[in-house]
Amino acid sequence: MPDDGGRMQRLYRPDAHTRIVSNPDFYDKDIVSIRDMTRGQIESILDLSAKMVPYANGEKVARPLAGKIVGNLFFEPSTRTRLSFESAAHRLGADVIDVSQVSETSISKGETLADTIRMVDAYCDVIVLRHPHEGAARLAAKFSENPVINAGDGAGSHPTQTLLDLFTIKRAKGRIDGLNIALVGDLKYGRTVHSLADALTTFGANLTFVAPESLQMPEDIVKDLEERGCNPVVTSDLGGVIGGADVLYVTRIQRERFPDPSEYRKVAGTYRIDNAILREASKDMIVMHPLPRIDEIAPEVDGTPHAKYFEQAFNGIPVRMALLMAILGGEL
Ligand code: CP
Repeated sequence: MPDDGGRMQRLYRPDAHTRIVSNPDFYDKDIVSIRDMTRGQIESILDLSAKMVPYANGEKVARPLAGKIVGNLFFEPSTRTRLSFESAAHRLGADVIDVSQVSETSISKGETLADTIRMVDAYCDVIVLRHPHEGAARLAAKFSENPVINAGDGAGSHPTQTLLDLFTIKRAKGRIDGLNIALVGDLKYGRTVHSLADALTTFGANLTFVAPESLQMPEDIVKDLEERGCNPVVTSDLGGVIGGADVLYVTRIQRERFPDPSEYRKVAGTYRIDNAILREASKDMIVMHPLPRIDEIAPEVDGTPHAKYFEQAFNGIPVRMALLMAILGGEL
């Protein structure tokens, strides 16, 4: 939620700032990076997300955002983020316009992202953007009068995923502070773990980074976390970590971000969570994954009490409902 310094002059809704709304911290603000939010602001979204659960699963029905339009621009593949934003909007009574491929847009004719954003901005009340390039959401926020939500920008960040990850941990464990949380897999290219490590440091969790050396957490991120008082353990030894973990957050090795396919083949399949390795885990250790998974979690784990990843994917709906409510000023 950066300040509005770079935002263009408001053209279409000159009275947008005069409304009285329930959450001035988020109303009409961009969500570009989890670093733009304080711990208190994150907690307020997690609290609102908990209230959204009965609306997210259809037990209760309300249309506080009737008349609003969400613009879903997904210029990189997505299942969960795109559909859960769409579901969240519908559950709240908002309409959705969407693009799921560059080839469907005039970007394929050479139009810039900036011009595309200027147009779509006029067609909706909030833009949800996934883009292959790091920094794209920040750029879009600059050119959009309406708020922009970053739905993942290249290897950059994925703040709404981080919010739903925090929500999942808090619901499963009752707290985040002091938990031992191991992030496993592709920590170099995995944007979800960059944002999550940041937020978990804000919440005082103990972090362990488990990855092959070539896919470890980037040094600048580790250094930054250390400066903020977190002293993460950096290792490639998954077996040595499982017994002490409260949360195992597993990630896919991001084949599409490797410049050289032969480098991908060297590390593909390095870690696999199965029932044999989980015998080392405490009985209430939870396994999370932002999904999609390839082969890093065996299907046999799905039926165990450890598996939280499908619940985690569902949690994308109440969390994104909470964000849309807060940003668009919905009241229940
Ligand atoms: N977790 C996540 O971002 O999934 P999608 O790529 O399917 O949206």
